[in-house]
Amino acid sequence: MTRDIDDGPLADGASANVQLTTISAAKLLGNDPQTQKDLLEACKDLGFFYLDCRDHPSSPVLSLVAEMASTALDFYDLPESIKENYKPAGKQEGAVKGKKDGWEGIILMEHPLAQIPPEDPMPGPPVIQNARGLIEATQDQLGEMSRAIVDSLSRSLHMTGDQSLGRHHRKGCPAPTDLEILKYLPYVPGSEKVGHIPHTDLGSVSMVFSDVGGLQVFHPLRKEWMFVPPRPGHAVCNLGDAMEFLSGNVLRSSLHRVIPYTQDPGKIKLSIIHFLRPSEHTKIVSPDGKEWTVAEWNTMKHKLLHEGGEMQKNLSIITRREGQDDFWREQAV
Ligand SMILES: [Fe+2]
Repeated sequence: MTRDIDDGPLADGASANVQLTTISAAKLLGNDPQTQKDLLEACKDLGFFYLDCRDHPSSPVLSLVAEMASTALDFYDLPESIKENYKPAGKQEGAVKGKKDGWEGIILMEHPLAQIPPEDPMPGPPVIQNARGLIEATQDQLGEMSRAIVDSLSRSLHMTGDQSLGRHHRKGCPAPTDLEILKYLPYVPGSEKVGHIPHTDLGSVSMVFSDVGGLQVFHPLRKEWMFVPPRPGHAVCNLGDAMEFLSGNVLRSSLHRVIPYTQDPGKIKLSIIHFLRPSEHTKIVSPDGKEWTVAEWNTMKHKLLHEGGEMQKNLSIITRREGQDDFWREQAV
């Protein structure tokens, strides 16, 4: 059961839909002043917003995303032995305490792939090798919009010159930026592999395209988990830890997770996600005052996601909330 945020108090563990600001891609790319203000407010609040890609002025963003989804489905049908840049389901902790994750993923790191000469094949099976043009075009278009978000926020925060956020996100610099296509397993009660662990994103801008629900954000004022429903033609964008740290904690990297979504029974949830991350040598300072390079922060958070045994200790770094149980209770849907 989902309810709208204005429907009043919730009973029986149901989750409401969060209301988010919508940013127009055309106005963002056109440096529209009101859009810049709206974006700043959204990113100081939850750090989540919708990006309306239907009015993108020059590129078929949505058809690129649809083509990537179709390519990914062809890839997932292949035997595991020939998959590369691939994470099977169940390798990390999941959305339910003590259970593993319920998603498989293709992970296409932008900088290493860009170093492969055009005449050489990309790693992976033919379905990926033949999609190089599509992959690069998708990375370029989503990267351009993500960089526009970073530049807009930087201008709003008067971070210019050496302080500019764009300085850490130049195209072509070595960075852990990637394009990922995630496929969630169909859920049945009692499944041992479920959803996506509560976490904050580690990088700068995450741009998520999906037409099936299940994404939830933790609302710190309401102190509850709320659904972020998908909207046709829109991406759900959120900021990660690096933007929070680089902005002096003005911008927000919010806690989120993915749980099964019973309103879309039988539908496969695919998420096409572009993760813009800062250059690997960019220095960031975590809330405990420790300095990290982005590469170190990236490696540390990824490593923790794979270490089930030490989970209790690690969870506060993954979720950045001390002493809280943010796992999904399966009976709540
Ligand atoms: Fe995430």
